[in-house]
Amino acid sequence: MKITYYGHACFSVQVGSRHLLFDPFITPNELARQINVNAIPANYILVSHGHADHLLDAAAIAKRTGATVISNFEITVWFGKQGVSKTHPLNHGGACRFDFGRVKYVNAIHSSSLPDGSYGGNPGGFVVETAEGNFYYSGDTALTLDMKLIGESTRLNFAALPIGDNFTMGVADAIKAAEWVGCDQVLGLHYDTFPPIKIDRAAAVQQFSQAGKTLHLPAIGASINL
Ligand code: NI
Ligand code: MN
Repeated sequence: MKITYYGHACFSVQVGSRHLLFDPFITPNELARQINVNAIPANYILVSHGHADHLLDAAAIAKRTGATVISNFEITVWFGKQGVSKTHPLNHGGACRFDFGRVKYVNAIHSSSLPDGSYGGNPGGFVVETAEGNFYYSGDTALTLDMKLIGESTRLNFAALPIGDNFTMGVADAIKAAEWVGCDQVLGLHYDTFPPIKIDRAAAVQQFSQAGKTLHLPAIGASINL
C-alpha cells in the first residue's frame, strides 16, 4: 500500500484506485506549507476524533472531492452541518464494509471536543482491512490494553501511531503498542508540529530499532510503501 504523509497526524493510504485520507490538518500546519491542499485526492476522509489538529481541512477537502467522511456519530453529524453531503457514522466496536475494504472504529483514550466547543463523542482509531493488506491507525491515544485485541484479530501490515508524547503516547509507549498489535512496521505521527511534541527523530528511530521494529518518518509530502 502506498502511504503519503501530509504532516502532523495526516496521511493517506491508496488502496487500489481509492484514496483514504486520515485526519487532515494541513493549511494551519507551519511545517506543511509546501503541500497544496487543493491537489490532495480523497475518496474517503477518516477522522479519528474532534480536535482541530485532526480535521480543520476535512470539510473543504470533502466538498472539493465529494469524499465520504467516516468518523464517530457525533462528528459525522457535525460535518453534515458544515455542508458535507456524504458521511458515514460508526461507533466503537462497529465495523462497516466499503468499496475498498472494511473499517472498524476502535477505542482510544483521549478527548474529542469539536473546534466550536460542541460535543465530539468519544475518540477512536481505525482498523482497516483490505485485499491489499491491513493497517491500524490509533488516533490520539494513550497506550491501552485494548490494543492487544487488535493484534489477536487482525494481521497488520503497518500501524500508524502517535509518538510525540505530552498529548498522546510517546516513543516508549508506541513501541509497546506496536508489540501489542503485533506489528513491526510503524508510521510515526503527531510529533514536531508544536513545541510540546518536538522529538529527537534519530533517537526515536533508534529506540524502535533496538526493539526490533522499524519507525518510518517520511518527509512531509513524501510517500512510502508498506
Ligand atoms: Ni487530540
Ligand atoms: Mn492531536
